[in-house]
Amino acid sequence: MTDTSTDSIDLSTVRVALIGAGNMGGPVGLTMLEAGVRPENLRVANSSAESSERAASALGATAATSRAEAVRDADVVVLGVKPYQVLDLLAELREDLPSGVLVLSLAAGTTLSHMRHTLGAGAAVMRAMPNTPISVGEGAVGLMGGADVDPAHHRLAHALFSKAGVAVDITEDQVHAFIGAAGSLSAFVFLLIEAMTDEAVRLGLKRDLAAALVQQTVRGAATMLTEEGTHPAVAKNAVSSPGGTTVQGLAALEREGVRNGVAAAMAAAADASRAMTED
Ligand SMILES: NC(=O)c1ccc[n+]([C@@H]2O[C@H](COP(=O)([O-])OP(=O)(O)OC[C@H]3O[C@@H](n4cnc5c(N)ncnc54)[C@H](OP(=O)(O)O)[C@@H]3O)[C@@H](O)[C@H]2O)c1
Repeated sequence: MTDTSTDSIDLSTVRVALIGAGNMGGPVGLTMLEAGVRPENLRVANSSAESSERAASALGATAATSRAEAVRDADVVVLGVKPYQVLDLLAELREDLPSGVLVLSLAAGTTLSHMRHTLGAGAAVMRAMPNTPISVGEGAVGLMGGADVDPAHHRLAHALFSKAGVAVDITEDQVHAFIGAAGSLSAFVFLLIEAMTDEAVRLGLKRDLAAALVQQTVRGAATMLTEEGTHPAVAKNAVSSPGGTTVQGLAALEREGVRNGVAAAMAAAADASRAMTED
């Protein structure tokens, strides 16, 4: 089994270049700071100097004057740009990357083999597929490529995501399922929470009370399953008394096809990820 122990890794001297601190790169930068990367060692480069300054200041990190300057002394280069930009960016930065650097891409679709092809066979490249709840330490990150990089880089990647929630090793073949089950799933849960809150308001609760009750119940239900290890069907059956309120609501959910809708959403996300992946 691969060693992902992060206990002995001191991140206070690790230099990270974050190229693209947007909706996903920003939370990734935050979780790395939380894990122990020092603000002066997290260098941010966006598409312009103003944007780099803005993003660095929002994160409490340091703006780089250029992409080349950001990567020059880096131990890790995190790519938070759009998938179609990744290979062009790597080609641009190839000469500036220090030897021994770990390149960690957040992009959907761009494979490790394409990145290696652009950088040269010996390049240390990994992919990370995070979701946005990493910004509150309750996210999920799928790490790819660990088996092909040296163990120190693999441990380093895990250490950088040690405050993200859970970070697991996955293969590139699994990333499509991962996107359905984690990457995009947080947005599906947001939609369900929105729908439940709206209905609670329609039933007569004030919006702030409705929001608090729905969010606490969703959080509590997930925590119960995690902490007690109960199967969801067992937890559901335990609150379904014959002819009672819950069993009536559950039957309505099944009649309305909620289970099928959720499955279709996850499958659509996985299919979109597959379609985005270059041959
Ligand atoms: N959003 C998600 O939930 C999610 C989940 C997992 C993975 N991802 C992956 O994360 C990546 C970024 O997605 P996003 O949603 O965060 O996009 P985004 O919010 O548009 O962020 C893109 C970032 O890239 C910067 N950028 C653009 N061109 C650049 C260049 N030439 N040099 C340096 N920086 C440049 C942008 O800076 P400016 O603002 O200055 O243009 C912006 O900060 C994608 O590859 C996506 O597949 C996203």
